[in-house]
Amino acid sequence: MADDTYLGLDIGTSAVKAVLVDADQRVQASTGQGYAVDYPRPGWAEQPPSRWWQAVEAAMADLRRQAPVALGKVAGIGLSGQMHGLVLQDARGEVLRPAILWNDARAQAECGELTRRLPRLGEITGIGAMPAFWPAKLAWLARHEPEVMARVRYLLLPKDQVRWQLCGERFTDCCDAAGTQLLDQASRQWSPEVLAACGVDPAWLPGLVEGSVQAGRLCPELARRWGLRKGVVIAGGAGDVAAGALGIGAIDEGSAFLTLGTSSQLFVATPGYRPAPERALHAFAHALPGRWFQMAALLNGASALSWAAGLMGVTIEEALARAEVRGGRPESLLFLPYLNGERTPHDDPAARGVLFGLTPASDVGEVTRAVLSGVGYSLREAMGVIEGAGTPIERLAAMGGGTRSDLWLQLLADILERPLVRYRDSEAGPAFGAARLARLAVSGESPDTVCRTPEVDRVFAPSADAGHHAAHYARFRRLYRVLKPEFSAAMTSPRG
Ligand code: XUL
Repeated sequence: MADDTYLGLDIGTSAVKAVLVDADQRVQASTGQGYAVDYPRPGWAEQPPSRWWQAVEAAMADLRRQAPVALGKVAGIGLSGQMHGLVLQDARGEVLRPAILWNDARAQAECGELTRRLPRLGEITGIGAMPAFWPAKLAWLARHEPEVMARVRYLLLPKDQVRWQLCGERFTDCCDAAGTQLLDQASRQWSPEVLAACGVDPAWLPGLVEGSVQAGRLCPELARRWGLRKGVVIAGGAGDVAAGALGIGAIDEGSAFLTLGTSSQLFVATPGYRPAPERALHAFAHALPGRWFQMAALLNGASALSWAAGLMGVTIEEALARAEVRGGRPESLLFLPYLNGERTPHDDPAARGVLFGLTPASDVGEVTRAVLSGVGYSLREAMGVIEGAGTPIERLAAMGGGTRSDLWLQLLADILERPLVRYRDSEAGPAFGAARLARLAVSGESPDTVCRTPEVDRVFAPSADAGHHAAHYARFRRLYRVLKPEFSAAMTSPRG
């Protein structure tokens, strides 16, 4: 109906973000409810699902305060969420342990064994064995927590755990399913071959739907409590990266963007399934039927900047202001941004952050510039992987918290030697894309009509400084290669 509204709920790593979008695709209200990640041991990352649910409840209460009338007109809810996380439920639907997240590296030892058992894993699932994905996580649990595995009856992704609480049904969409590494990407079905190799009972898995169709209806009790209509449709939804893509209309061949959030990604939509797992490129089902994407997934993004600012005792704004004063040229200080290890292109959970070339004159501005450039150089390496896999990138959109900085976007345009486009209101990101999926599920409209490109805020063209980065980029690449054996040695040797 003409005055229907749509709700997008993004179950992120650091917060639940919710947006309420009207029929003209204007954001009527939005909220973010933050929470922590637990790091119980080095390289581990977990969250109890109850934390997501408390944040969903708080987000709904906040939206009701802001826009009760628009909330009462919600016709559909779209879910998006952090990808790859593993939630385990018992036969009664009780959660068995904290969810193991996308950036958890505990299952490294299990990856070699999986590849030996199923050499075609990368070809079928669009990515080689890595600790981020379910087969490695499940193999680790079987070895270290057999009592938990003995009680497992259901496996869910983070956003689908929230769906279960919203409607009592277990579904996932093809795109988020792609990120489990149990999906046959070409046919968009669970892969019997992979399930057998990993000892996964198909009955443990949620029903599989496309992101733009109905997958549940909000339960009446919650509708009453939150001030929503009865029977609100819940769409299949999508993993956060693909939901972000829908939000900026990146659905057609060659549409590319980068994100600068907790992690960062380089994403390009492809009309078919184009795997290239040997360089840790992810080839996954997109959030709309008959579309796929290639993605370089980097574990370090704007989080590297907030880490550096915190360490130096300045705010992010102050760090950026001091970096600005130093001008646009690269400097001798180099930063390897691998604070959380790295996925694309190194597949190296042991990699760590490095500041190389410090002098007594190094100050906040210089270190900040090195951090911004270091993330940029790792994105450039990622772009090389995508282009090397046969997908040229001519220009890119930019999304995520880090894109608020003009300085950083100009630096990235220079490093990548590509124009970068920032859209207006791109902050809403995956939650906005999820709201679009809700609309598609309710209205049956064509994705081309709904998933339009937003208004451009600014285009950053490569400047005269672009050429100066080539030598620094080459040193950046060498530095990682020289240090790689040291990272591995540091991981295996006893601490202290
Ligand atoms: C993508 C990835 C992360 C999570 C976090 O492969 O691991 O971006 O989706 O949001």
